[in-house]
Amino acid sequence: MQTEDTDTEREGENRSPLPEMQHNIYQEQLRYNEGGVIDMLEYLVLYESRSGNTKKLAAAIFSNLPGNSKDLIDITTDKSIPEAKVYFIGFWVNRGTCSMEVSDFISDLGGKSIALFGTCGMGDSPDYYKAIESSVNAWIESDNDYLGAFICQGKMPRKVREKYEAMRNTENEAQMNLYIRNFDEALTHPDSLDIEHAKVFTQKCLKKLNEMDN
Ligand SMILES: Cc1cc2nc3c(=O)[nH]c(=O)nc-3n(C[C@H](O)[C@H](O)[C@H](O)COP(=O)(O)O)c2cc1C
Repeated sequence: MQTEDTDTEREGENRSPLPEMQHNIYQEQLRYNEGGVIDMLEYLVLYESRSGNTKKLAAAIFSNLPGNSKDLIDITTDKSIPEAKVYFIGFWVNRGTCSMEVSDFISDLGGKSIALFGTCGMGDSPDYYKAIESSVNAWIESDNDYLGAFICQGKMPRKVREKYEAMRNTENEAQMNLYIRNFDEALTHPDSLDIEHAKVFTQKCLKKLNEMDN
């Protein structure tokens, strides 16, 4: 996707490393039950979402996880991040991959079960989605169990379309028209079918976890 110009202003913001203290909170915050015994969450849905698309998937995944031992957290908030056994980690795609905040978080996990989910502007592109998945799951250390990834299309900012329109000339017209069509198709995503697919993905992950336990 040609979004480079709009990337530049975000890059510093998006790629800045997390403060070390916040990392420690990620790994060390534990919950205590009434008896003072450390409780670890069963599920944590953690996501980064700039314009709300990935947040929608996160909410759908969260609501499909059983029980009460679960939390839903935006990685960019100040809220401390509890430890869990199973992580559903969501990201929006920027230049074909996730942000450094997300990759740092993933690479710090050990001995966990991890599922990934994300949204990107490009629609209906299984090979591209596979490439995104590979670039993000590469951060998962080998002592974790990887459950798979779900990626779908998400609407993009209006200025992306305006950029395509401004760039369009006689030589690249066909390509730019394709980009513009993709932009327009993205406007309704994630839609109810995407949400349904996210739910199916969650069920598949739960089934895998169940099989791993038996
Ligand atoms: C700066 C920027 C870079 C992007 N890079 C890509 C990209 O490389 N590939 C892609 O398919 N979509 C790209 N997109 C589109 C977003 O990934 C997409 O709109 C996503 O659904 C946004 O999710 P969010 O609403 O959770 O932030 C980009 C969007 C922006 C604003």
